Amino acid sequence: MGDVLRKFAMAALWSSLLAFVGAQHTESQTRGSSGYEYINPLIGTSNGGHVFPGATLPFGMAKAGPDSFGENQGGFDSGNTMIYGFSHMHDSGTGGSASLGNFPIFAQSGCPNDDFKACKYPYTERATERVPGSEHARPGYFDITLVDNIRTEMTVTNHTALYRFTFPEIPTTPNTTLHPHILVDLRDLPNTMSEGNITVDGKTGRITGNGKYSPSFGIGTYKSYFCLDFKGAAVKDSGVWSNYQATKAKNLRIPPIKPVNKKKKIEPRPAGGWVQFEKPIRGNQILARVGISLVSEEQACANAQREIPNANFDTLVAAAETAWRAKFDVTTIEDGGVSDVFLKAFWSGVYRAMISPQDYTGENPFWNSGVPYYDSYYCIWDSFRSIHPLITLLDPHSQTQMVRSLLDIYQHEGWLPDCRMSLCKGNTQGGSNADIVIADAYVKNIRDGIDWNLAYEAVIKDAEVEPPNWDVEGRGGLKSWKTLGYIPTENVDVEGNGTQTRSISRTVEYAYNDFVIATLARELGHTTDYQKYLERSGNWKNMFKSDQRSSVNGVDSGFEGFLQPRYMNGTWGYQDPIFCSPLLDFTGCYLNPSGKETYEGPVWLYTFFVPGDMATLITTLGGRDRFIARLNWLHESGVLYLGDEQAFLKVFLYHYVGRPALSAERAHQYIPSLFNDSVGGIPGNDDSGAMGSFEAFVMMGLFPNAGQDVYFIIPPFFKSISIKNGQTGKTATIRNVNFDPRHRNIYIQSATMNGVPYTRNWLQHNFFLEGGVLELTLGPQESAWGTRPEDVPPSLGPPGNKTVPGKLMGGRETKWQKAKLDWDISDSQRL
Ligand SMILES: *[C@@H]1O[C@H](CO)[C@@H](O)[C@H](O)[C@H]1NC(C)=O
Ligand SMILES: *[C@@H]1O[C@H](CO)[C@@H](O)[C@H](O)[C@H]1NC(C)=O
Ligand SMILES: *[C@@H]1O[C@H](CO)[C@@H](O)[C@H](O)[C@H]1NC(C)=O
Ligand SMILES: *[C@@H]1O[C@H](CO)[C@@H](O)[C@H](O)[C@H]1NC(C)=O
Ligand SMILES: *[C@@H]1O[C@H](CO)[C@@H](O)[C@H](O)[C@H]1NC(C)=O
Ligand SMILES: *[C@@H]1O[C@H](CO)[C@@H](O)[C@H](O)[C@H]1NC(C)=O
Ligand SMILES: *[C@@H]1O[C@H](CO)[C@@H](O)[C@H](O)[C@H]1NC(C)=O
Repeated sequence: MGDVLRKFAMAALWSSLLAFVGAQHTESQTRGSSGYEYINPLIGTSNGGHVFPGATLPFGMAKAGPDSFGENQGGFDSGNTMIYGFSHMHDSGTGGSASLGNFPIFAQSGCPNDDFKACKYPYTERATERVPGSEHARPGYFDITLVDNIRTEMTVTNHTALYRFTFPEIPTTPNTTLHPHILVDLRDLPNTMSEGNITVDGKTGRITGNGKYSPSFGIGTYKSYFCLDFKGAAVKDSGVWSNYQATKAKNLRIPPIKPVNKKKKIEPRPAGGWVQFEKPIRGNQILARVGISLVSEEQACANAQREIPNANFDTLVAAAETAWRAKFDVTTIEDGGVSDVFLKAFWSGVYRAMISPQDYTGENPFWNSGVPYYDSYYCIWDSFRSIHPLITLLDPHSQTQMVRSLLDIYQHEGWLPDCRMSLCKGNTQGGSNADIVIADAYVKNIRDGIDWNLAYEAVIKDAEVEPPNWDVEGRGGLKSWKTLGYIPTENVDVEGNGTQTRSISRTVEYAYNDFVIATLARELGHTTDYQKYLERSGNWKNMFKSDQRSSVNGVDSGFEGFLQPRYMNGTWGYQDPIFCSPLLDFTGCYLNPSGKETYEGPVWLYTFFVPGDMATLITTLGGRDRFIARLNWLHESGVLYLGDEQAFLKVFLYHYVGRPALSAERAHQYIPSLFNDSVGGIPGNDDSGAMGSFEAFVMMGLFPNAGQDVYFIIPPFFKSISIKNGQTGKTATIRNVNFDPRHRNIYIQSATMNGVPYTRNWLQHNFFLEGGVLELTLGPQESAWGTRPEDVPPSLGPPGNKTVPGKLMGGRETKWQKAKLDWDISDSQRL
């Protein structure tokens, strides 16, 4: 024992051995009334959800979790695939290839015949089955046991992962005594390492290393660094390994791997470091602390030493829980006796919307401007619709930091990102949708430390200047956009390079980007720009082919007028309006050169995308009744897939024709049948929490029209919900009267705002800033509430159908109403 203690003193890394050995194995199971108890981080870890279920802090950089085979985009697949390690950085819910997962560590109880060479090294060799059902997850904590009877628990601070391995007294491997062996691998999840270096300190067992990797959905490379320390047992031996062999050498370098040619990449050889220990001092446990950094090994070690100097595991689990509870506690639910399915899906949705973007402040190797640096905007095409609006609503401080970081990226890289991960530029899917995140923040009073002139400059650049590579930022085909008023199919692009597909979906997205830029222009006093971008926001009409029909298996749908491809010479092309829907060639429209004129969805869907001017769209599609019939067809024919983010807004478009009751019906059509509390309980990739933010909003009885000061109202799925605003400290409550926990009364009969009748079927953000009570009286049948033309959310036109948001009925005129969208422009200014 004395010898062991001396070795630890030499290590001088973790001073408090006694703190460790004194730590008992408990799961710190506080049970209170907060949303925390309902959260299941495993929701979305099968069925294509790709959710990261491991331990993280809100928006934290360290994300400790198991890495398995199978659908491992987020590291872990709930199918019974084998697990080959535990790594410290992840993305959550992404499509494409797996992300991050650098430097997995893996424990073995000992090596056969006590020969370190007989342990297993490459990930294919060491991968081990899990004990079915042994995984347990809570925000900030994850626990799993593999069939070798080693239990691995993990928790995190912002830049450091802490693992607690509990070894079996008798190792399951034959001829093996309990001398734990822990290795680290230079690998990442998608196996992209192209350079690496690893160093082992034989005395302390500290392993440091770094590697160069590729991002999972973007261009370029990034470097990552780690610093691994152990506690709980004396070091017996250590070294490095490469391929199937281990040695006692203390350093190993993988020189830069050059691709043979553009197409053929050389597979990196598996390599890493290892440490073997004497029998653990107490409880057969060893702690492994992994500091991470994107700057240097020194910084990785400094992060670890600063954040986890000597803490015991359970204290850190409790600290992570406290950090999460602070995020959840701004929201209070009176559940009214609903089934737990709703509570679990709701709170887990809120949780997943706060995993990314990730706070990498201080970890950006390229510039240090003193402005927060967030990464893993993965991708804004997915997140602008409801993730950022939800963060704005529940955590305005974080949204402020994120907007500042977006603008800082613009300043240093020349463009706002559209997708970003691992310090690299990610792929653009459609428009320049950071414009929408910025406008949404503006109209919702996100202000502190944001230079709005800089923001305006950034969005104008998106609208005016085509980047050399518009696959990763900005927009393509801007010359045609400005002269022809649409993105032509087979566009001749003289200004830049990019994937020449998606002409229809890019056109409707660019049009809405220009709409929100017009909003900012008006708010910031740029009157001429306002007119210009308002006009360009109508460009979607140039791809609307009024006589186009759509049929399924030869049977006409009954609707006429759809968006269609159009060449530079004005001639129409053709894309079957159901193509790329579940009804026809569902996967035909991805981001590849053979993709078609819409992105991840059919013409049927994109024809509804005019979020800034629904009134004109409704008229264009034949008026109110035809619009309702068409929207019903969208929701009932099977053409709509709700597992992709563009579908979200379609649930609420009935509000624009004064039928909020139908939006409520659709909301209940999809929740809980497609969004629920099972591990497969979301219908598509979570995309950094997009699916989570959708279900959270809908169950709150709200949905934002991102980029505008508009929330659609339906009855919350709970008796009441209250949100305390982070900027003003005021609380806004939406309360159902006649609430029925089985959701038979989903129709609003009447409403009051602070006791005064309220007839609009939508809300503005000042309700949340000022606080108050919106009381909804429910009944089992649709009523006249919210159905009049003056009750519907604002649109630009057509003249005669305009609705003018003025004072909130029953509300007070406030300074925040300065930020309201003032749609009351004179008819002469209309398109
Ligand atoms: C972790 O980072 C967040 C910001 O992302 C910060 O608010 C929090 O204080 C940090 N936690 C600790 C323990 O430093
Ligand atoms: C276990 O040890 C015995 C005796 O030394 C030896 O005969 C046998 O081959 C060993 N088995 C393994 C799997 O190493
Ligand atoms: C690899 O790491 C060792 C030890 O830290 C260091 O001396 C060496 O310079 C590194 N090599 C490279 C190429 O970074
Ligand atoms: C477009 O890509 C081609 C081929 O990669 C390249 O030669 C050309 O310089 C690029 N053009 C621009 C404007 O970047
Ligand atoms: C317009 O361009 C398309 C695509 O190049 C071509 O197929 C079509 O014939 C042209 N139409 C006319 C009227 O020139
Ligand atoms: C839960 O959601 C998943 C994914 O959308 C769906 O496949 C499943 O049928 C739903 N389960 C229930 C019980 O509704
Ligand atoms: C617009 O107003 C006209 C006249 O009031 C009405 O007939 C028409 O249905 C309205 N259109 C929509 C989309 O509400």
